[in-house]
Amino acid sequence: MFTWGVATSAYQIEGAVDVDGRTPSIWDTFTRVPGAITNGDTGDIACDHYHRYNEDLDLIKWLGVNAYRFSFSWSRVIPQGVGPLNQKGIDFYNRLIDGALERGIEPWPTLYHWDLPQALQDRGGWMVRDSADWFAEYAHQMAEIFGDRVKNWMTINEPFCSAWLGHLSGVMAPGVKDLEKAIAASHHLLLGHGKAVAAIKDARKDVKVGVVLNFTPAIPATDSEDDKAAAILADGFDNRWFADPVFKGSYPKDIVAAFGKEVPILAGDLATISTPVDFLGMNFYFRQTVAYDPSAKPLTYKQVTKPVERTFMGWEVHAPTFEELLLRFASEYNPKEIFVTENGSAWDDQVVNGKIDDQARISYLERHLDALFSARAKGVPVNGYFAWSLMDNFEWAYGYGKRFGLIYVDYQTQKRIPKSSAYYYRDRIKK
Ligand code: FCB
Repeated sequence: MFTWGVATSAYQIEGAVDVDGRTPSIWDTFTRVPGAITNGDTGDIACDHYHRYNEDLDLIKWLGVNAYRFSFSWSRVIPQGVGPLNQKGIDFYNRLIDGALERGIEPWPTLYHWDLPQALQDRGGWMVRDSADWFAEYAHQMAEIFGDRVKNWMTINEPFCSAWLGHLSGVMAPGVKDLEKAIAASHHLLLGHGKAVAAIKDARKDVKVGVVLNFTPAIPATDSEDDKAAAILADGFDNRWFADPVFKGSYPKDIVAAFGKEVPILAGDLATISTPVDFLGMNFYFRQTVAYDPSAKPLTYKQVTKPVERTFMGWEVHAPTFEELLLRFASEYNPKEIFVTENGSAWDDQVVNGKIDDQARISYLERHLDALFSARAKGVPVNGYFAWSLMDNFEWAYGYGKRFGLIYVDYQTQKRIPKSSAYYYRDRIKK
């Protein structure tokens, strides 16, 4: 059976940030930093999903999908990050999980979608080695509580973003800009993932566990040797840095050398990080074109903007890259299974006579689904697709201005309106 799903994450939709015992996460803190988020937006209310989850589950059911990917808010269930549980937070996810199952929808939770409890950030966050153990302990607790009903688990979402955007460019929480700290954070995120795989399996034998990695393939701007080398570097920084340790048990040597910094690896770490996973969660949005730039730091390349088809994010639309990526990943890394855990696009949606006729999103969706099924027909074990996103939500540093939903959210009234793409997806699933 093919898994058809939609995806969301806690901080992007839940709101209710100070309700029922939840404590702040690094995103609550970061959204208070002046200038960090477009328009000064925050996740305080978001889609108010914490209170409207029943209506949202009804919409998921209406879409006809058989799976729902969401994430746990760590500081909602364990307010100090480690230690005592918050029963009211657990109750919320019990209601959500049971509500999904009652509607015939499999719950697919992610344990970490970027919202580290601020209490743990205050102790050094992912920059310190203890973070891997904090995460594994949390994973174990969640698997003990929900593992009787949740059969598919994802550990960490896009460590690329947490590590590089959170600790190197600083455009995401916690907003650190330091290469050494970013490298440490990347290693501890991966180590936390590996420890969590074992912790979840220790709590429940009969579940599947995967990690979610985002891939941004790179092509050289010209045929020059310099630009070709730039594309290899970009691929290493974005893709191989995370896929290699998990699936091959090593960091890419070219990138370690290019960084010129030590990765804080202790004996046994790489074996832990490469603990076999049951599946890869693959996120794909766009490809990049890069050129050699001797002045760029820490790696000598820059992105080049060519006049190609782009979404409202400015991301290139190129579905053939998606098929190539699936084929490449299957042959280079040999995963047992792949689930596409995110794919989608933002557009400048307009409500006209109460309707949102988002033909551009339909076209993106259609081309990417065709690419996926073409790869599957060629033998890639890609067994599911989760559209990003169920509904418009808080798009991190971009705030509410970038809409990725199949369902439109009117943030003034919290009214949900299925866009034309929601009807398209529904029909496609039925076929
Ligand atoms: C991914 C994130 C997801 C969403 C999409 C557009 O990087 O995992 O939360 O923001 O991008």
